[in-house]
Amino acid sequence: MEGNIREVILTEGRIQKRVRELGALISADYEGSSPLLVGVLRGAILFVADLVRAMHIDLEVDFMAVSSYGSTTRSSGVVRILKDLDQDIRDRDVLIIEDILDTGLTLNYLIKNLQTRQPRSIEVCALLVKRGKQKVRLTPKYHGFEIPDEFVVGYGLDLNERYRNLPYVATLKKGVMQTEFP
Ligand code: IMP
Ligand code: MG
Repeated sequence: MEGNIREVILTEGRIQKRVRELGALISADYEGSSPLLVGVLRGAILFVADLVRAMHIDLEVDFMAVSSYGSTTRSSGVVRILKDLDQDIRDRDVLIIEDILDTGLTLNYLIKNLQTRQPRSIEVCALLVKRGKQKVRLTPKYHGFEIPDEFVVGYGLDLNERYRNLPYVATLKKGVMQTEFP
């Protein structure tokens, strides 16, 4: 698996340090409101697990699973909910936790969908934001890192379900990308 890596763009140490910073920042902002953190499956699992351990306030965690129709590397903006929240979010402070903001179409859909349920507030925390790629106006209130427009894996992010378990974020060798996405 590690033989397929081209370049580590965010080391485990940098990610962990930034996640602790985000945890402190978000905790300060949400102190006293018991926010509901909504992790987007499956990419955000590692980020959620580390982020909540860096937050020392009362909070709840739930998950949603979505899939966009069509190709797996390109977002179509048409999103299907595979697993919905288990709880009502009316009057709750909701914070969506995403692995990466690419075109923004997935998040845009999610926000609109959750907004119809009348939460008290709804914000986004994305670990990664791809520079210059957003097709919709969407600026997450919190984000970990801005990265160049390249396909990355690791720390939850996958290529055909693989590489999620890498503790760092990396690009893959050209040959690997081509065999998996001819
Ligand atoms: P968007 O709708 O284009 O913003 O895409 C969002 C989803 O596409 C993310 O939640 C990821 O699952 C996936 N994605 C986008 N870019 C990458 C990448 O570089 N590596 C792995 N998955 C990605
Ligand atoms: Mg994915």
